Amino acid sequence: MVKHLLSVGDLSGKDIEELLADCVDVKTHPEKYSDSFKNKTLVMLFQKPSTRTRISFEAGMTRLGGHAIYFDPSGSQLSRGESVEDTAKTLAGYADAVMARVFAHETVSELAKNSIIPVINGLSDLEHPCQILADLFTMKECGKLEGKIVYVGDGNNVCNSLIVAAKILDLVFTVSCLDGFDPSIEGANIIRDPAKAVEDADVIYTDAWISMGDEKEKEAMEKAFMPYQVNSELVSHAKKDFVFMHCLPAHRGFEVTDEVIDSENSVVFTQAENRMHMQNAILLKLVKG
Ligand code: CP
Ligand code: NVA
Repeated sequence: MVKHLLSVGDLSGKDIEELLADCVDVKTHPEKYSDSFKNKTLVMLFQKPSTRTRISFEAGMTRLGGHAIYFDPSGSQLSRGESVEDTAKTLAGYADAVMARVFAHETVSELAKNSIIPVINGLSDLEHPCQILADLFTMKECGKLEGKIVYVGDGNNVCNSLIVAAKILDLVFTVSCLDGFDPSIEGANIIRDPAKAVEDADVIYTDAWISMGDEKEKEAMEKAFMPYQVNSELVSHAKKDFVFMHCLPAHRGFEVTDEVIDSENSVVFTQAENRMHMQNAILLKLVKG
């Protein structure tokens, strides 16, 4: 297993399979792990807002018997010019792992390069590995990991991590995104027409059209993306028992309508819960080996 988790691509197929198996045990037998992180500390550095990532890592550390510290860079010496390198070296003297949510992927890479303790990417402009590893687990729980998986919308960080995971695990994966908003990671099977892309799909996944840090020309972007909205008409092309996935937060009425996200096909809150279980499986592997 790798030392840091910056990209899904840091993992081999075997690593991912092991994490998926470990996650079953972490989720169903939390009592087995309640002392695993006794006296251990996770530092959580956030350059951007978060609900799920912050709370799931913090609650997850509590479940493992450890402690998490929320680190706001704007209130720290980073905001006054202390380098990422010096920050990484300092944190290693106090903590057992660092989770960082950053604007530029280079920041989390720089942290990892200078850190003797594991660094976990909690979302960057390039990838969102914890999200996608948890989502693979959710797909497996739903019996859909071997099915046809389609991502619809903006080719963003979440889409990138799905592309990387699909390559490693050889998944049947298609991206349907607006022309000009293709994922920055190459190699995806792209079908421009969303209705054609989701034909007989087992999984339909979408995410915000405008990611954090990408907020320019909001109204024009929302109009241009409308043909990619996941609504009742679009999902009527999928299999009857398809599952709807979204990493959340959702922008209801934009990338997804209420009738889809609130339908029986939707597993979005299971995805959110599984973040905690998968991240604990990841922490256990990275910190304890
Ligand atoms: N999905 C996800 O990472 O959510 P938050 O932005 O709330 O952490
Ligand atoms: N693509 C979104 C994911 C939020 C969890 C963003 O980067 O804002």
